[in-house]
Amino acid sequence: MSPEQFLETARAFQESRAILTAIELNLFSAIGGGAAAREAAARLRTDPRATEMLLNALVAIGLLEKRGEVFRNTGLAARWLDDASPESARLGFMHTVNLWERWSTLTACVRAGTAVTYEDMKDRGPEWTEPFIAAMHRNAFERAPEVVRAVGSEGVRRMLDVGGGSGAYSIAFAQASPDLQAEVFDLPAVTAIAARHIREAGLEGRVSIRAGDLRTDDFGSGYDLVWVSAICHMLSPEENRSLLARCFRALAAGGRVAIADFILEPDKTAPKFAALFSLNMLVGTQAGASYSVDEYTAWLSEAGFERIEHRRLPGPAGLMIGARPR
Ligand SMILES: C[S@@+](CC[C@H](N)C(=O)[O-])C[C@H]1O[C@@H](n2cnc3c(N)ncnc32)[C@H](O)[C@@H]1O
Repeated sequence: MSPEQFLETARAFQESRAILTAIELNLFSAIGGGAAAREAAARLRTDPRATEMLLNALVAIGLLEKRGEVFRNTGLAARWLDDASPESARLGFMHTVNLWERWSTLTACVRAGTAVTYEDMKDRGPEWTEPFIAAMHRNAFERAPEVVRAVGSEGVRRMLDVGGGSGAYSIAFAQASPDLQAEVFDLPAVTAIAARHIREAGLEGRVSIRAGDLRTDDFGSGYDLVWVSAICHMLSPEENRSLLARCFRALAAGGRVAIADFILEPDKTAPKFAALFSLNMLVGTQAGASYSVDEYTAWLSEAGFERIEHRRLPGPAGLMIGARPR
């Protein structure tokens, strides 16, 4: 890394913060078809001088353009960050806005060894849960077809989606396989969101919801596939052992567990996304982290799984798959 690159990286929070503030204020929706700083400030109920400073910085970043006194959204902002766009992803980006506070506690978390502002998912209100699940949905919805192909749905009649969030993966598995019945298991506040997505996909007959606690509940039995996507990183190693033992018991003989997560190489320094995501879990959970291929392999093996494999996928998340012996 050159000294210039180092300085740019160390100051990258400035650009990030300007974008997050614009999203938090819903500035790109207020700019709409074009607005001068004074008009935008009136719509946002913000200070005109400060608003103009933020708007100018967003031009410098490339999210707005300025002609004379009038600011307009550039293509990316118009498509993803303006509520008037059918493709608006602003609600999901609000999750990143919410992460800012947590990341500001990183130094204290490194001293303490755990999240210093931890709040159990059950106790978080809709202002956290809705953007969180929207962000997960957007990501899952895009990746799901590729993931379904990689895991394979052939022979899967009953699938359990542990911590299934919006239900995007269950919906994609059901769409790929007409005989497949899926169950989205999550906290009550989240299964209500999943029910909405399942209804919109017209799959109420084949994708059901079950409210429960994945840290403690028994999952039942007789599943051909237990899907565990973006769950293990929020748990401690002990909790993952318990989770995988319960997944094992939930499977029929020959059934498979498939874990999708940000899986680290054995020395835990790569990929970069997974190494940084581990810090995201440090600031947000009691004992979560990104885990390595070796750790997943050991837990799966202890739980009784065989034919354990690690599959890399394009993008930051990979798969660990294991089968319950026949
Ligand atoms: C990172 S999201 C992953 C969602 C989905 N599996 C995906 O990949 O898009 C974690 C999910 O675990 C759920 N969750 C967290 N704690 C839980 C608990 N104790 N019991 C059940 N679900 C829980 C959250 O509500 C959320 O939907």
